[in-house]
Amino acid sequence: MTDTIAEPITPNPPPGPADAPANADEPLSYGSYLEVADLLRLQRPRTDAHDEKLFIITHQAIELWFSCALDELELIRTAIDREMFGQARWSLRRLTRVTGLWLGHLDVLTTMTPAGFNEFRGALGESSGFQSVQFRELEMASGLRDRRYLNLPGATDEERERLRRRFQEPNVADAFTRALERRGLTPEKLFAPGQPDEELRDTAEDLLEYDALFHQWRYQHWMLVVRALGTRPGSGGSAGAAFLRSTLDKWFYPDLHEARSQVHAAPAEETSEVEGDGNVVYGCPMGYGSDLST
Ligand code: HEM
Repeated sequence: MTDTIAEPITPNPPPGPADAPANADEPLSYGSYLEVADLLRLQRPRTDAHDEKLFIITHQAIELWFSCALDELELIRTAIDREMFGQARWSLRRLTRVTGLWLGHLDVLTTMTPAGFNEFRGALGESSGFQSVQFRELEMASGLRDRRYLNLPGATDEERERLRRRFQEPNVADAFTRALERRGLTPEKLFAPGQPDEELRDTAEDLLEYDALFHQWRYQHWMLVVRALGTRPGSGGSAGAAFLRSTLDKWFYPDLHEARSQVHAAPAEETSEVEGDGNVVYGCPMGYGSDLST
């Protein structure tokens, strides 16, 4: 089993102090341990626009959390491969919390008006979140492989190499599929009523929660762009909001979603019916009907 576990991919810089301390005898302080001075030097707005620093910090903060999420994904994949589902679920808990944080970050940016954004938008040039290497790594490590992102515009050679490795190595979706196979299960059997393997089913539920939160990020980001850009194209050259809307079809674990919904769905004739007046009445798995026409 261990032969399927790839070496962790360590983003730059490697663990350990970045530079030798100026004076090795000086005791560590909050600022020196966290390198706060360096951190605060990393926000370099290119205009005097009040909102540009907020825009930079929001992106940087989310990129830091992307890095944390990638660490958890590696742990989750390894734990599933080793049948350590307690560890996998613990890391999934953290991963979903980290993913949930990104929503709050985006929320802060909704306080930026289109006019405020326009004050510095020209300074962005062709740079765009589309070029975020870690975002593509996250997609690949979670379960989505898209060969087109191997040559991400703006990426360095080292970053392209990281993307190539992420693309080639088993991801969390692969690890979970192999775990199912080892137990002779399919997604449909996993969610079947009475299926006794609770730890695997609960892990699947956690994966679906993560997938849903990631999807929420895609949705909230799209809405942010609708509000800030309207129908104008993005700085990365895409159609902007229209392009982002097309990404809402992306899921990491579509087979699990589908299998779960099949099990919980009521028989077709009970899920919807057309009343005499033409209104469609929708049924829910709990047995309550709601008339959406009212
Ligand atoms: C007002 C704020 C923002 C605007 C107007 C905006 C705009 C856009 C647009 C138009 C795109 C499509 C590609 C393009 O043509 O540029 C995009 C993609 C993207 N943006 Fe943003 N963005 C904003 C905030 C953020 C933040 C805070 C992040 C956090 C890292 C982010 C991450 C991304 C990512 C990862 C993509 C690629 C999405 C995909 O391909 O599925 N964006 N953004």
